[in-house]
Amino acid sequence: MSWTKEGLQELVKTKLTDRLFAVVSNREPYIHVSSVDEIQCVVPASGLTVALDPVMRACGGVWIAHGSGSADREVVDDKNRVSVPPDEPCYTLRRVWLTKEEEEGYYLGFSNEALWPLCHIAYTPPNFDEAHWNTYKRVNQIFADAVLEEVGDSQAFVFIQDYHLALLSRLIKARNPQVITAQFWHIPWPNPEAFRICPWGEEILDGLLGNDLLGFHIRYHCDNFLETVRRMLESRVDNERSAVNRGGTTTLVCPFPISVDFHRIARDAAKAEVTEEMEEIRRRWELGDEFIGIGIDRLDYTKGIPHRFRALDKFLAKYPEYQERMVFFQLGEPSRIHIKKYKELNAEIDDLVEEINWKYQSANWKPIIYVREHLSPTTLLAFNRLAHFCIVSSLHDGMNLVAKEFVSSRTDEDGVLILSRFTGAARELTEAILLNPYATDDFAESIRKAIKMPKEQRKARMRKLRQAVEENNIYRWAGSIISELANLGL
Ligand code: F6P
Repeated sequence: MSWTKEGLQELVKTKLTDRLFAVVSNREPYIHVSSVDEIQCVVPASGLTVALDPVMRACGGVWIAHGSGSADREVVDDKNRVSVPPDEPCYTLRRVWLTKEEEEGYYLGFSNEALWPLCHIAYTPPNFDEAHWNTYKRVNQIFADAVLEEVGDSQAFVFIQDYHLALLSRLIKARNPQVITAQFWHIPWPNPEAFRICPWGEEILDGLLGNDLLGFHIRYHCDNFLETVRRMLESRVDNERSAVNRGGTTTLVCPFPISVDFHRIARDAAKAEVTEEMEEIRRRWELGDEFIGIGIDRLDYTKGIPHRFRALDKFLAKYPEYQERMVFFQLGEPSRIHIKKYKELNAEIDDLVEEINWKYQSANWKPIIYVREHLSPTTLLAFNRLAHFCIVSSLHDGMNLVAKEFVSSRTDEDGVLILSRFTGAARELTEAILLNPYATDDFAESIRKAIKMPKEQRKARMRKLRQAVEENNIYRWAGSIISELANLGL
């Protein structure tokens, strides 16, 4: 069965009846920023918000998140709420305010310098700092207070997102045991050997086991989690039911591969403004009939951006006939820039782009065009449609929605996806050219294969990729989670 927005709405009506539906995440879906003399509303580069926004548009309810924009306070009411999306308001965004120190300790510090590298096997060591951990705990309580303000004593269904809020479910239930919580962990869960170095690992596991349901993208991450719990916590792990019983409460642990709103992206990609933007890009960069490659990423060391540049370098060296015939656009959204590792990554990328371009460029051509800025959804769709090939070369990635967005936007059934085997998406998108981003020579061959792939083959593969995303769309993801909770008799 193909899931639709209407199908999800129906399910919510019948299963959640009159329960309030609340989503909680660190990142907010709409950020208000001051620019010159107006307030702009920006959509962040975030897989999580791309995925959850259509669900909230369908279900309504309240989304509680950190208000991180410079003009966020100016647009909320006296309860810190604002209706979104700005073009067709249909749910409430409740903003949580954090001080700079709280943001530093909880978001930059514990979430992104400790948990992020701990869960992604990308060979960046985590930094465990007790002060960050204490702030993380305090901020989880701040979020819990905001959730409780929104849900009161009701039997709400609270859907918690990601690794920033591992302690939240227990904090909420301590004050309102009627609340049902599900949590989705958007990043990989590592094997127990990797996880056990976390000094507060037991508290994190215990916090997550406060949920009725815990979701990961793929079965492999669920199995890693169950095995970690079995080794580190006193509890009963039921592998057959994929559940953990601890202190009399049960948490079901299941895979739910996240996705995108396939039809909405396809519709938006076909809009006249996207076609005009494609023309604008061609004009701006003086493009002729070169093969166009794209990479669209948050600038993060897990995305394998230097690895893809090294492969492009190899490709151009080995197949010089493609010099002046291929242009690669790297579109990079700055991210977590106050963390040292991210600063180092930015410097490495700048150096590599400069070095590769210097090596191959001619009077009117250079192989890599690096755009390091926030781009609008229209511009990103235009690049997706212009590309002959799109590279996703993550060293480790829970899912990767850039790959699914690329596929959804290709209503022409053309374009080749080059995709790292180390993404959750590779389990579903098997018609992509799958690769190991560390294997530079093979990577260079994959670029050649993408460029040389005959049209009929491109079409056949893209058609299958599109079928996979259309079927496993975001409404199926949300619907499966809600159905699973309903099966539990909650
Ligand atoms: O993919 C993991 C993730 O945390 C998402 O949940 C989020 O959308 C993305 O990374 C962006 O990160 P941040 O919110 O730190 O900008």
